[in-house]
Amino acid sequence: MKLGDKIGEGAYRDCFAVADNPDLCAKVQREMVTRRIPILEISLTLKTRLFLLFRYGETDLNRRENRIINKFPTVLRQYMPEVIDLRVDPSDPEKTQLVATRPRDFDGQYSASMLEYGPVDNEAFWEHVDKIAEAMVEYDLISTDVFFRGQNLLVQRVAKDHYRPVLVDVKHIGRAVPHVRKPQLIFKNEFLKAFYSKLEDFKAKFKGPETRKFQ
Ligand SMILES: Nc1ncnc2c1ncn2[C@@H]1O[C@H](COP(=O)(O)OP(=O)(O)OP(=O)(O)O)[C@@H](O)[C@H]1O
Ligand SMILES: [Mg+2]
Repeated sequence: MKLGDKIGEGAYRDCFAVADNPDLCAKVQREMVTRRIPILEISLTLKTRLFLLFRYGETDLNRRENRIINKFPTVLRQYMPEVIDLRVDPSDPEKTQLVATRPRDFDGQYSASMLEYGPVDNEAFWEHVDKIAEAMVEYDLISTDVFFRGQNLLVQRVAKDHYRPVLVDVKHIGRAVPHVRKPQLIFKNEFLKAFYSKLEDFKAKFKGPETRKFQ
């Protein structure tokens, strides 16, 4: 599948518009990754697959994320892009693309990430956030990465007075990998405490008067 413009990037993956259908995008995992190693206070550039093997016990984040999404209950699935499909490169099965729809606002613009959008002043939006958090706890699908710096969710303006969060990166779910700096997080109650405290920080940062201007 031919890819077009890059529309987003994270630490491990780039996201491109699909060339002949820009309403779709595809995530592609990068060959190399640069990460800070906290206890050693240094940055290391490593093969992404090798790094992920240590971090997640597997080497392809697209496969991992696709598997997680497929297990989502409807209550969470409704906050994801509509279509999600894992494509495996026929000539190299190690290479995958995670294809998804790109949500649009009611006025036709592609929805912005929360990081780009900034603070959100919309009651419905924050009710949706609480519903997501509640479902994550109920189904034991907590992600400490979704409610964080705002890069992993979009603010979709479905109507002038109704915004919805759309989760676009849910690879980081569960307590699978014990945290070196915070070993107490292997205990469920400690993990829950950390989740709620992150959620509060997220609200403190993003709940408030809007700075984004629309024409
Ligand atoms: N369906 C989508 N529609 C619009 N933008 C998207 C979509 N999926 C991903 N993106 C954009 O691409 C960026 C990179 O994707 P993603 O967050 O999955 O990469 P990552 O490397 O796994 O992230 P991280 O740095 O959080 O570990 C996202 O932050 C988001 O801005
Ligand atoms: Mg991300």
